[in-house]
Amino acid sequence: MRLAGILLVVACLVGRAAEPFSFVVFGDNQCAITSPTSGVPERQALPLIVRDLRPTFVLHTGDIMDHGWEPTAYAKFREFYQPMLEVSPFFPTLGNHDAAKIGWSNYLAFLKEQLTEVNPRVAPGFARECQVFFADDPTVYPSKPGDTEGAANRRDIPSGFTKKTYYAFRYRNVYVISLEQGTRWWTNTPRPWLERHLKQAHEDQTIEHVVVIMHHPIYSSIMNENPPDPAKPGSGECTGPVRAYYEPLFREYGVQLVFSGHAHLYDRFAVPNGDDTIHYIVTGGGGGPLYRGGYRTDTPGAAFTQARLNGYHVVQVEVDGPDLHISCLQIEGDATNPRSSLFEEFRIGPSAKAAGE
Ligand SMILES: [Fe+2]
Repeated sequence: MRLAGILLVVACLVGRAAEPFSFVVFGDNQCAITSPTSGVPERQALPLIVRDLRPTFVLHTGDIMDHGWEPTAYAKFREFYQPMLEVSPFFPTLGNHDAAKIGWSNYLAFLKEQLTEVNPRVAPGFARECQVFFADDPTVYPSKPGDTEGAANRRDIPSGFTKKTYYAFRYRNVYVISLEQGTRWWTNTPRPWLERHLKQAHEDQTIEHVVVIMHHPIYSSIMNENPPDPAKPGSGECTGPVRAYYEPLFREYGVQLVFSGHAHLYDRFAVPNGDDTIHYIVTGGGGGPLYRGGYRTDTPGAAFTQARLNGYHVVQVEVDGPDLHISCLQIEGDATNPRSSLFEEFRIGPSAKAAGE
């Protein structure tokens, strides 16, 4: 009897671990009250499309806001995106529009509420299985340029300061790490914290997929590799130096998927990492002005590019044990007539390898 009970529990656990689930990723919807892009109809269609995909959770790649400093900006976001937010846990990452001026403090309050109150309320079953690591870094760092508090630890942050919006969570066989990159080209995530989570995920035999979300892409078909030129305001996106900081860690600890935003298009790269591949996906087509220019051929990303879409979209990731099925869904229509269509799909994992994909 006792053995039968144990076997039943084991069978349930095995069955539960193997049960497929999905998550959705999008970014740069740039919600705002006074923004000139507030009226983009596809932005109103997006939360309805996401709701109907029934994702287990939603990841955001930054720039939730256009004007994150507006006092009621996040209340507006909760109103516009209610159809999605009331059914799916939502995990953001800081974008430069979210951080601008005093916006980072609004973002931090939103993030804390989302992680500790809203997500457990909308999906209690998910919350019971999800372990969130937020505000888990006791190290004192400078919180702004020139801050003397924690100055000795400045060496661990290339930007020299952090607002401590970085966090991680694990759910079943997936480990997600959200970086802080809200000041555009800087890297505000302390290396010791990032490495601790990458190591933890890498060494955990139950984790099969490590996913990073970060606003600023480190591979891009449109962005400038170089640091900004002080003589030219707005110049330089610094993609090269940011990549030099993060990529060795992603390679060492077997990161599989890196989602970014900031560039307003779908821009996918497959970068070899020994016998594996790191898939870098820029998903910045949530509602901000779409990119309309040409593509760079002079950056390292050019050798690894796979697909691009200059259109509004979301990315769906279906998780079936070690296998992932990734789809880019183009979004059209508006709140009364939301439409989506498949732009591209691909598979990762042993099943795809066995099929020669
Ligand atoms: Fe951005």
